[in-house]
Amino acid sequence: MGTNVQKKLFTPVQIGPITLKHRVVMPPMSRLRAQPGTGIPSDLQLEYYTQRASDGGLIVTEATAIAASARGYYHAPGLHADDHVAAWKRITDAVHAKGAYFFTQLWHAGRTTHVSITGSQPVTASVDPAYWADPSIVVDTPDGFRQTSPHRALETAEIAGVLEQYRAAAQNAKKAGFDGVELMAANGHLMDQFLQDNTNKRTDQYGGTVENAARRALPSASSHWRSQTRPERLRFPCRRAQAGRPRCSAENLKARRAGSATCACSAARRARRERPVPIPLPRNRFGLTACRRGERPAYPVRCS
Ligand SMILES: Cc1cc2nc3c(=O)[nH]c(=O)nc-3n(C[C@H](O)[C@H](O)[C@H](O)COP(=O)(O)O)c2cc1C
Repeated sequence: MGTNVQKKLFTPVQIGPITLKHRVVMPPMSRLRAQPGTGIPSDLQLEYYTQRASDGGLIVTEATAIAASARGYYHAPGLHADDHVAAWKRITDAVHAKGAYFFTQLWHAGRTTHVSITGSQPVTASVDPAYWADPSIVVDTPDGFRQTSPHRALETAEIAGVLEQYRAAAQNAKKAGFDGVELMAANGHLMDQFLQDNTNKRTDQYGGTVENAARRALPSASSHWRSQTRPERLRFPCRRAQAGRPRCSAENLKARRAGSATCACSAARRARRERPVPIPLPRNRFGLTACRRGERPAYPVRCS
């Protein structure tokens, strides 16, 4: 690593109201260590996050379910019940005691789950029987790794209820002492299933063009969270080029750096764009944060 890069890595950066003392940010990583079934954060998670907290640093938790029906892995944590709030509070206190900031990643798995984890039929944007028939897609269930369950499309009138679950989880995040939330909108989970054109074939206001879905779903979701939380961050479906994955076009990267668009080029869990186009996000509503290794800042952030 060059001296200049090293120097920059250890200089402060402002993220809305938060001043990080350095730029080494721990990204969300599902480790499946919550208490099985309940999703209550465990002592092992307390130890794990405390070990990784550093003075003036930032950690984003693993994907954390906004509702029982949103769960995608049996051992993943939740943030939809008082027991979750109390258990997370122990962890946020310990992380803060080491001087670090702590965000949580709010998550709805959508179709990529199993009925034994959710207790109800998985939901998504549009039905695709090939998804649950695919033996290469498996999820962590009480009986080990299993193929996903048959899913159904959310009714238009149900979507407000899902947004309400996000709002309630964001409120719980605040109660649990988190400094901000990241909304999981990538990697083939529910928001990504709405954003990608091979998984969203809807004809209501959340479908049509993917640009429409983004315009309607993201800002309206965002307005729910804005009043309830401190910084909020959106993790979009854009990944660094990896083996077998498409590379972002220069044009899309430029748009993402401007904070106004995302290229949505991931193909995680079979959610992908047949027709790659930038998704228009309201300009100036998002600042920027979070450099990933080898990239300029990629993820739009809105700080209230
Ligand atoms: C074990 C593991 C679990 C992960 N879980 C999540 C997750 O819960 N949410 C998420 O957005 N990304 C998750 N990721 C992706 C990471 O946040 C990160 O984007 C990925 O490792 C690539 O980082 P890199 O570009 O610095 O190598 C996970 C990655 C790993 C290795």
